[in-house]
Amino acid sequence: MKLAVQKERREHERRVAATPDTVKKLVAMGFDVTVESGAGDAAGYLDPAFQDMGAAIAGDLAATVKDADIVLAVQRPLEDGEGDTPLVSMNETPLVSMKKGALLIGLLAPLSNKDQAASYASAGVDAFAMEFVPRISRAQGMDVLSSQSSLAGYRAILDGAAEFGRAFPMMMTAAGTIAPARVFVLGAGVAGLQAIATARRLGASVFATDVRAAAAEQVESLGATFLTPEGAEDAEDASGYAKETSADAQAKQTAMVTEALKTQDMAICTALIPGRAAPILIDDTMVAGMKPGSVIVDLAAEAGGNCTATKPGEVVQVHGVTIVGHLNTPSRIATDASAMYARNLVNFLTPMITDGALAIDWDDEIIQATCLTRDGAVIHPRLTEASGDGS
Ligand code: NAI
Repeated sequence: MKLAVQKERREHERRVAATPDTVKKLVAMGFDVTVESGAGDAAGYLDPAFQDMGAAIAGDLAATVKDADIVLAVQRPLEDGEGDTPLVSMNETPLVSMKKGALLIGLLAPLSNKDQAASYASAGVDAFAMEFVPRISRAQGMDVLSSQSSLAGYRAILDGAAEFGRAFPMMMTAAGTIAPARVFVLGAGVAGLQAIATARRLGASVFATDVRAAAAEQVESLGATFLTPEGAEDAEDASGYAKETSADAQAKQTAMVTEALKTQDMAICTALIPGRAAPILIDDTMVAGMKPGSVIVDLAAEAGGNCTATKPGEVVQVHGVTIVGHLNTPSRIATDASAMYARNLVNFLTPMITDGALAIDWDDEIIQATCLTRDGAVIHPRLTEASGDGS
């Protein structure tokens, strides 16, 4: 069985879908592994390290994927038209060279690229989207959203601290006392909780809000203060995610956030609602009400942003407030993000292999949740339903 690891070609992407450590595991599972030359360079994993663990190195993408039964990727392949830049040619999409019946496994962003599934199907590729791994206990080791969000939450604090003209911890020195920074985390999911823990470790006073009532206990267990409007409704849906709140609840939340921001030094935005644009939590008036020198880090930038002043991919200043809108924050911590993502992929592949051969249980809940295309057809219900979910 042959397994290929492609070099990523999308902008802002420094991660790689395998590390020398996971190549060793894949070889032990019975795979012949080929890694595209330079695939791990940006994440600190160089070709010789992959070779030491038993991988072959191929010179280009076509040679990497041509005989592969499985291709591992971080991001979805380039599409027609995206290859026309001088940097990448059309031949650099693996679909051109992959053999029929091969598996493509990656963060394929299927809901925002519904048409691309048809390309996988017409190439005869069985595609699996890692963001669809269900959040059940058996799949925790495969949960790429958690592994990548957790690192993004950590990195958000470091990105914010780098733009902040003050220190985080309280310092009492002969030259005077520095008060601890006040950090407000909006959205206390996986990324938000890690941001809280990181800001606390740096010595900040931390506050957080979320529309899910269950988040309060988690926030407080990390030593932060949970802020919520009086009589707030619990907006958690049956699957544990946030759902859209009523107009009345939104108005109350806006008033609470407006007041809170006036006394904060940093806001970390992580609020997302699956399948929808990120909710707006900080508008231009609220930005204007913040202290000059404050920083907003908008981790939701990729989904449009939680702050109206965010410019995705840029760091901007408005009313003396710095707003950080980096895209693909996990890629900004590429070595660890790759290591965790690559381990998630090994955990995803392990149940598919029996006695060194591919033996996929197509009735398995995890397979059904993640498989987009099979035998030349788009099969995922979220892609075949006539009315999508808006994403
Ligand atoms: P996410 O990335 O979809 O959203 C981030 C956070 O933003 C969530 O906590 C959400 O409630 C919050 N949010 C949405 N709209 C908001 C608003 N208007 N104001 C304030 N906050 C808002 O969420 P993530 O991080 O993927 O986690 C979602 C849930 O899944 C959580 O309950 C988490 O504990 C749970 N989870 C379960 C796992 C499992 O294995 N069972 C693994 C990872 C997460």
